[in-house]
Amino acid sequence: MDSGTARERILILRKRLEEHNYRYYVLADPLVSDFEYDRLMEELIGLEREFPEHFDPASPSQRVGSDISREFTQVRHRYPMLSLGNTYSPEELAEFDRRTRKSVEGEFEYVCELKYDGVAISLTYEEGVLTRAVTRGDGEQGDDVTFNVRTIRSVPLRLKGESYPSLLEARGEILMPRRGFEKLNEEREQKGENLFANPRNAAAGTLKIQNSSVVAGRPLDCIVFGIMGEGLPFDLHYENLVRAGEWGFKVSEHTRKCNSLKEVYNFIDHWEKNRSKLPFDIDGVVIKLNDFKLHRLLGYTAKTPRWAISYKFPAERAATKLLSVDFQVGRTGAITPVANLEPVSLAGTTVRRASLHNEEQIRLHDIHTEDTVYVEKGGDIIPKIVGADTSKRVDGSRPVEYIRNCPACGTALARVPGEAKHYCPAQNTCPPQILGRIEHFVSRRAMNINMAGATAKLLVEQGLVADVGDLYSLKTEDLMQLERFALRSSQNLIKSIEQSKKAHWSRLLYALGIRFVGETVARKVAEAFPSAGRLMDAGMDELHAVDEVGEKIAASVTGYFSVESNRNIIDKLRRSGVTMEADGPEVDNAGDKLTGKKFVISGTFLRHSREGLKAIIERNGGKNISAVSPNVDFIIAGDNMGPSKLQKAKELNIPVISEEQFEDMLES
Ligand code: IVH
Repeated sequence: MDSGTARERILILRKRLEEHNYRYYVLADPLVSDFEYDRLMEELIGLEREFPEHFDPASPSQRVGSDISREFTQVRHRYPMLSLGNTYSPEELAEFDRRTRKSVEGEFEYVCELKYDGVAISLTYEEGVLTRAVTRGDGEQGDDVTFNVRTIRSVPLRLKGESYPSLLEARGEILMPRRGFEKLNEEREQKGENLFANPRNAAAGTLKIQNSSVVAGRPLDCIVFGIMGEGLPFDLHYENLVRAGEWGFKVSEHTRKCNSLKEVYNFIDHWEKNRSKLPFDIDGVVIKLNDFKLHRLLGYTAKTPRWAISYKFPAERAATKLLSVDFQVGRTGAITPVANLEPVSLAGTTVRRASLHNEEQIRLHDIHTEDTVYVEKGGDIIPKIVGADTSKRVDGSRPVEYIRNCPACGTALARVPGEAKHYCPAQNTCPPQILGRIEHFVSRRAMNINMAGATAKLLVEQGLVADVGDLYSLKTEDLMQLERFALRSSQNLIKSIEQSKKAHWSRLLYALGIRFVGETVARKVAEAFPSAGRLMDAGMDELHAVDEVGEKIAASVTGYFSVESNRNIIDKLRRSGVTMEADGPEVDNAGDKLTGKKFVISGTFLRHSREGLKAIIERNGGKNISAVSPNVDFIIAGDNMGPSKLQKAKELNIPVISEEQFEDMLES
């Protein structure tokens, strides 16, 4: 194919893909199957790669993202991104209405919108092409996240129609629908990664990922709620939004014009009752004056417009029956009381368990057995109990009794003065603490040993492992006794344990699970004390002098090393050859084994996350490619690899390898 013919085909493909995209992500009314869409996309990507002279940042191919890691640059907003004044009651809203009517002569229209609970974004279009996407930041300047935002399918890369101004700014909210959020968290849980507390955090966290191909795989959506620029079609907000929909933006179908405060109240009332039926979270309603002339007349306070206000809903709350209370023991021995509830629907999900925090909270809320309790979802993953409906109290019910002994090992519980939680002091004998510490030790961000939670449990139960030091004495034969372990899986685990000996000293320090020593603190402490020996001899003052280390942390670290059993663990680890000193701060385990090699990763994997695999490839000089093409050297296939990729790989004769074969390749 010559360059001219390629260009023609590329343009056709782009147009078709844009249209399919719009139908699918904005109108939710697709015309073609996913397979057909993927096929067109792969053809486009292939052609664009072969004929780079036809590159276009607005091409739908840009939506798959890139593996290039980018720093975000700060960009000043053309118009500052303000926030909204909040109201919480009809009276406060009536006050806003009174104030407004004082300044405005005659009747005017309100526009009522949902208040989306996501991340604000500013989208700049020049001659109809998306050129920049910037977060709110401090309102004056924000981060340029254009590469990530291009991957969001409901953000048009090129506007439709012709009536848009040559320089246009759309303001909107990037959000993650609840279903996508739950699925993402399930995947993260399976991979042992930290969970996002709520869809807003997930959206914000995703936007800040430096690798846009990871962003492309996350279910983000973008709803536009404002249009700015010179030469807009109307001097009216609502009408401009309708037009924005025609240009290809996703605008809400729930936005309404209201002619009276009464209509506004009805809108609020309706959405307060029906918010859980929406596929995404809202935290209130926004009320704006429709006429831009009135915006100019009313103007702004220092931070907020006088022509708009938000009405915030109270946190969603549900009433349900308390069935029983469990007491959980964490890896540090901390006890958390958890309520088992009659399942109840709350903010779009079913809640069965909720935290009761600690003894004091149970007393404070006066929670009785069999009570009808109120559950709220805060910013935390696990919902919480915020009170009881005493009018529904059952005769003969009694205050929930707090336990005095550890539910797992029976040891009398203790409490540190000034701390709310009880804890079980039997660190070295209490099974859930032992198991919790091992699970933490092997986790990906700690020693990165490829061991499932169920395996750790078996090892503890069978008495093969009593502390993390014992992991290094395990033999293949020991593992083969375990259920579901055969020769190969046993050898693999031993190999993974062996490899972890090379982990940087700061990882080991984090892996020990010393209270208050998270990853960042571990890194700082390991830098200041570049060997275990030095750290064990350090006094409170020396530790305290380290950046980020306060008295509490310093006391925890010295306390840890003063316990004989802990010193024994360190000793065991040392004798097994685990790295305990560092030449300098942690550098990635880079190499050049994969220099020049191009990989496509497809499917889900047992031992690595996709991001993890990509990182290994890059650290070793390889390159990640998103689509199968003749340039690709290997395809690493996991479970559920896409059939079209497999087919293409076969056609092009590209070797398809497993995760294990890939690891062998690194070791060879
Ligand atoms: S208008 C100057 N409309 O709420 C007014 N904001 O507190 C600009 N938000 O950062 C905002 N839904 O991210 C507007 N329908 C809506 C909104 C909305 C959510 C967010 C927005 C902004 C914050 C303002």
